[in-house]
Amino acid sequence: MGQFDDIHARSLADPEGFWAEAAEDVHWAERWDKVLDASDPPYFRWFSGGKLNTCYNALDRHVKAGRGDQIALIYDSPVTDTIRRYSYRQLQDEVARLAGAMTAKGIGKGDRVIIYMPMIPEAVISMLACARIGAVHSVVFGGFAANELATRIDDAQPEAILSASCGLEPSRKVPYKPLLDAAIMMAVHKPPTCFILQRPEERCELMEGRDIDWGDAMASAEPVDCVAVEATDPLYVLYTSGTTGQPKGIVRDNGGHAVALTWSMRNIYDIQPGEVFWAASDVGWVVGHSYIVYAPLLFGATTVVYEGKPVGTPDAGAFWRVIAQHGVVSLFTAPTAFRAIRQQDPEGRLIGDYDLSRFRSLFLAGERCDPDTLEWAQEKLKVPVIDHWWQTETGWSIAANCLGIEPLPVKPGSPTRPVPGWDLKVVDSDGKPVSPGTVGAIVGKLPMPPGTFPTLWNAKDRYTRAYLADYPGYYQTGDAGYIDEEGYVFVMARTDDIINVAGHRLSTGAIEEVLASHPDVAECAVIGVHDALKGQLPLGLLVTNAGVERSDEEITKEVVAMVRDRIGPVAAFKSATVVKRLPKTRSGKILRATMRALADGEDFKTPATIDDPAILDEISDALKPLGYAAPKG
Ligand code: COA
Ligand code: AMP
Repeated sequence: MGQFDDIHARSLADPEGFWAEAAEDVHWAERWDKVLDASDPPYFRWFSGGKLNTCYNALDRHVKAGRGDQIALIYDSPVTDTIRRYSYRQLQDEVARLAGAMTAKGIGKGDRVIIYMPMIPEAVISMLACARIGAVHSVVFGGFAANELATRIDDAQPEAILSASCGLEPSRKVPYKPLLDAAIMMAVHKPPTCFILQRPEERCELMEGRDIDWGDAMASAEPVDCVAVEATDPLYVLYTSGTTGQPKGIVRDNGGHAVALTWSMRNIYDIQPGEVFWAASDVGWVVGHSYIVYAPLLFGATTVVYEGKPVGTPDAGAFWRVIAQHGVVSLFTAPTAFRAIRQQDPEGRLIGDYDLSRFRSLFLAGERCDPDTLEWAQEKLKVPVIDHWWQTETGWSIAANCLGIEPLPVKPGSPTRPVPGWDLKVVDSDGKPVSPGTVGAIVGKLPMPPGTFPTLWNAKDRYTRAYLADYPGYYQTGDAGYIDEEGYVFVMARTDDIINVAGHRLSTGAIEEVLASHPDVAECAVIGVHDALKGQLPLGLLVTNAGVERSDEEITKEVVAMVRDRIGPVAAFKSATVVKRLPKTRSGKILRATMRALADGEDFKTPATIDDPAILDEISDALKPLGYAAPKG
């Protein structure tokens, strides 16, 4: 057995000993009573009885240890032509003052705070300020529309919202304030306070009595200290797509999260404190929470907040420029970013313009990594390229090649092996383990390791139903795939109606809810079709009401606008087509998977339960003009 096998085996044989040892790298205000509280299965809690503060661990402890002058955060914004550096001491000061400003408004432990911000340092400062006072933050991605923000406001019931006047996409300004105002108008819950950062690129009107100017608040704020919270208290709630329009509020606790993420920096990413680690994602996603904000700072590394894109800001050399300029040793992004770069610079010529001598590894996640992209990155960058698999629910990797323990041979298409703490199985529909190489549902034996989600916000029943009920004793990942003879995991597809668009997780059910609300639409289905850049794209199929006289073109245009308006530009919903009927089983279930295979030109078997096989020909005819349903060749 190699070193990785030993460590993995120990994590399963003695999880309490394993994670207690990892917990020594975290500062505790009070030590835990129990490493693993297993008194109420299938619900498990880590480090119960322990007290700590996540912000203290991310900032104050490093300053106290004499590392206050080390750079904690580099803000690199090609869209505003800005580079700004914050030392650990400066970041601590900003965070403590914002925490003081929030405290002065009566916000404290357990209160929820929504953060709706672009990729600017203030987004990180907001998250850490909440952690400092024990408030529970919920970051909402800037590409979501007002309606999505309103849903989250009503679910989280925040005491305050922290936002900025605008975001900057390469081609346009995104005024956040009108979206925020509209969301608060739509929501039943009305947060009493909003802190608004005025960006010089586009200022906004403040609403008297509710909105506070960020700059004014910071100028007069008294810094406050960290408040110790229970290890099992929530640090944040992050909403993610479920199977319906109602998103799931993934809860992250303080203790297990700090332990797992600190451990991951050395053992998975092979980083040393003081090195520059860059996750090119967005703070609105779990990758941003874990690897732009918490893990690098908990570990004492330097993080990069990048407000730009892999291409177009200004060109496909943007990532190489950032790596060279800031001495990044490891980059974490989604395969789609590399597909975008490769599309514009297929030979990787721009790489040669930069000094990447300090760059050691590339980590990819967020969607299945196609072997082509992996091999291109390996060949052009000449560093290990590590595909790793995780989910908003788990907060960190489920399967990865742990570079800091023992690099294992890479198999393209596989995120390598389950990481320490995860005992994975592939099972059939009866929950029986299948043989190596056979595809089935991927499940993880309970308890899941620290840092994973203990529940859903205000929805314990949904947590149980969605994740724990189908395979008792196991966590249902929602992903299907197989494990080979050597224990390598291959994640192939979702088992539900979640799709992955440019590494962003979307629910086709949520898009269908919007389409169905169009007055002329009788029935609809949304499927995720293959896209060479974004991995998948949502495609709508609409059946209109009898007697509708308006043109199909008008109706499809309207539904596209409705999805952008209600879900947001991030849905990337640009195509829909009107069909006469949808294929269904005899019991009336729409055959989405069959339509997806048809659209992608894959071989498929017409389901025996289909009501009328002729409908598939009609669908094929409707999809061809859009460029789909051509046999692969
Ligand atoms: N605020 C407002 N709008 C946003 C936004 C934000 N924070 N983020 C994206 N959008 C908009 C985009 O401008 C685009 O709008 P458009 O329809 O007017 O063009 C739309 O949402 C779709 O965005 P996206 O799917 O990201 O497409 P893109 O063409 O802007 O960029 C990539 C494509 C591949 C370059 C980009 O998605 C990317 O860099 N992805 C990899 C990194 C990543 O984000 N990973 C996430 C998980 S690790
Ligand atoms: P999110 O919660 O947004 O991080 O999306 C999680 C989903 O993205 C997973 O359930 C997978 O379907 C997919 N995913 C993430 N990383 C990978 C990967 N490395 N390989 C295959 N699928 C992945």
